[in-house]
Amino acid sequence: AAIGKGNYRHFMEKELHEHPAVIGDTLRQYVDPATRAVARPALPFDPATLPRLWLSGCGSAFLVCNTARYWFETLARLPVDCDVASELRYRDPPLTEGGAAMFVSQSGETADNLAAMKLLRSGGQSLVSVVNVPESTMARESDTTLMTVAGPEISVASTKAFTAQLSVMACLAINFARARGAIDAAEEARLTAALLEVPEHAARLLDSSTEIEALAADIKDARDVLYLARGSLFPIAMEGALKLKELSYIHAEGYAAGEMKHGPIALIDSSVPVIALCPSGPLFEKTASNLQEAAARGGRIIAFTDEDGAPALRRFASRVMVLPKVDPFVAPILHAIPVQMLAYHVAVLKGTDVDQPRNLAKAVTVE
Ligand code: G6P
Repeated sequence: AAIGKGNYRHFMEKELHEHPAVIGDTLRQYVDPATRAVARPALPFDPATLPRLWLSGCGSAFLVCNTARYWFETLARLPVDCDVASELRYRDPPLTEGGAAMFVSQSGETADNLAAMKLLRSGGQSLVSVVNVPESTMARESDTTLMTVAGPEISVASTKAFTAQLSVMACLAINFARARGAIDAAEEARLTAALLEVPEHAARLLDSSTEIEALAADIKDARDVLYLARGSLFPIAMEGALKLKELSYIHAEGYAAGEMKHGPIALIDSSVPVIALCPSGPLFEKTASNLQEAAARGGRIIAFTDEDGAPALRRFASRVMVLPKVDPFVAPILHAIPVQMLAYHVAVLKGTDVDQPRNLAKAVTVE
């Protein structure tokens, strides 16, 4: 049967509203709610002894890989390499014996992913695909397939598949951390509990679309928009910028906040909105001080933070949106939602073709 838009204006709007359900459904595949432990996934390698892991994907899926790299490294103490599939396929990198690779893709059909898989397979790596389509080519070509439970995604720009992918990767990071002795059962339970609360927080965020619409009105006439963050939120800043470019055709860049002074700061004046993902936590002060530098040059700061971060940011930011305070581990999943909503509302205000942006395809099956 054909999939309809229901009461929504666009598939993207409908799919944004599916974030809570999709994150919940995906987590239920991996976490045992009774024990709060991640069920041991069937894998072609032993995470306890894995020497090195490759992560690869394209577009938003690549940004999921980038986020997961922070999780696998900090939580599981696992060395990770991460690259876009179009580069990886030609890089011919030295591969560690016994290593493994995980490819993330909504469609499971992206040509560059398939080529990169072939290269890594010939280098003796075991292959895991994280896909949303069980009968896809990538699922067939990998040793193991881990499913996202996002359901069909129609909008060209990925939304719910993105948070479903993050949810799978977060579960794996916890599981690998446990297998490698980097965390104990109590820490595992604490982290999965934080994950299991995400759907509820996500639902609340989706209710705050009036606030996001006001932010959208604020940036819709900008020529350039800068997205800044640090740590595991840096890939989400890139996701925000990617979505804004794709949907509204406004030039946007996602930058590591600390790297701003090595280039983008030259662009900043009062016409450049600077969107910051800056929740309280270990990197808060560092990011806040970068934002203050941008504000001192006239930049209009729009900050996403939580109740603990808000007071300090209100001193110089032109707008502060307060998100629920969550464990820093799950903050990337939560922050993905308002940046995607923002891009959606800017596109609606600009009257662009939200579900089918010009020149873009849902699945890029040719090189
Ligand atoms: C296209 C889509 C993106 C998607 C990317 C990767 O560019 O517009 O939304 O992130 O392809 O697609 P995949 O199916 O491999 O996740």
